[in-house]
Amino acid sequence: MKQNINLPKQIEFDEAALQLLKALEKENKTVKDFLIRGYKGLPTSLEMEEESYNYFIKHSVIITSMTTFPGSSVFTEFLYEGLSPSFPIDKYVLQSKAGKAVKARLIAIERELPKIIEEYRSKGDVLIGNLGSGPGRDVIDVLSTHYQNISNIKAIHIDKDVVALKRGKRIAKIKRVDHLIEFVQGSFLKYNPTKKFDIILLIGVLCPLEIETCIIVLRAIKKLLKREGCLIVSNATKKMQKEDPFTYFIMRWAANWELVFKDDEEIKQIFEKAGYLWRKGFRDSYGFHLMGVGTSIS
Ligand SMILES: C[S@@+](CC[C@H](N)C(=O)[O-])C[C@H]1O[C@@H](n2cnc3c(N)ncnc32)[C@H](O)[C@@H]1O
Repeated sequence: MKQNINLPKQIEFDEAALQLLKALEKENKTVKDFLIRGYKGLPTSLEMEEESYNYFIKHSVIITSMTTFPGSSVFTEFLYEGLSPSFPIDKYVLQSKAGKAVKARLIAIERELPKIIEEYRSKGDVLIGNLGSGPGRDVIDVLSTHYQNISNIKAIHIDKDVVALKRGKRIAKIKRVDHLIEFVQGSFLKYNPTKKFDIILLIGVLCPLEIETCIIVLRAIKKLLKREGCLIVSNATKKMQKEDPFTYFIMRWAANWELVFKDDEEIKQIFEKAGYLWRKGFRDSYGFHLMGVGTSIS
């Protein structure tokens, strides 16, 4: 605990949080007090909360975009791009463990996906379904790094968000893999494939959902996956909740970022109850996301 910002003794803040609180001390002490009191579970007034909310909306591109486009990829893309933020709140989010773990998740997926693609490529053509893809940076990066000149791998990115798909098309062109990717706007729950997928990715989609809902979603997308096809699904783990509660508190309060943290056994159970064979899990370097890998058995 650093001395100069008068924090209650029992709360431990990491360096990124201390920097944020220091900046708020200078810019708006009410916001700093509100965050500390709210985080500690102490009473706060409606006036304090309203002033703090106004401050967040005026001084955070991340919070404003998350409240305007809830559940969209705008937030994740900020973290992937690592845009240098000018506001203390945005700076904090990018430097927080939970924020960095989202980028680390992308890195972990980009490391594992080629290995899974290779498994399927040894049997023939590979079709990847990126469901709730946002722009689909994970698949774009993997294709551009490993498969730019290979014609037997294709991907379909499906998302409700037309702006994210436009961005994906743009990034795919820049990275010269647009010939390998089709972008489809709509709900993946209503998608009717002409050809089933060998590999499905569902990344950053189940994190806010209750276990029972996750099972329903995984059951529903089974019809999109070939028998013995591979499903890769990310979930936020309880480690994130335990190790970075302050970021979660801020994001939940300001942007309604509600996550249902799940442990390894719960994630495995989701796969099995939805009718998949559990193969393995892999994590980002913070251990804040577990990517379950399963096989379709029907
Ligand atoms: C947090 S973003 C994650 C984007 C990307 N998969 C990633 O890992 O960066 C969640 C995305 O899922 C999309 N999404 C959620 N439910 C969907 C559905 N039923 N059909 C299509 N897209 C959906 C949202 O529009 C959003 O782009």
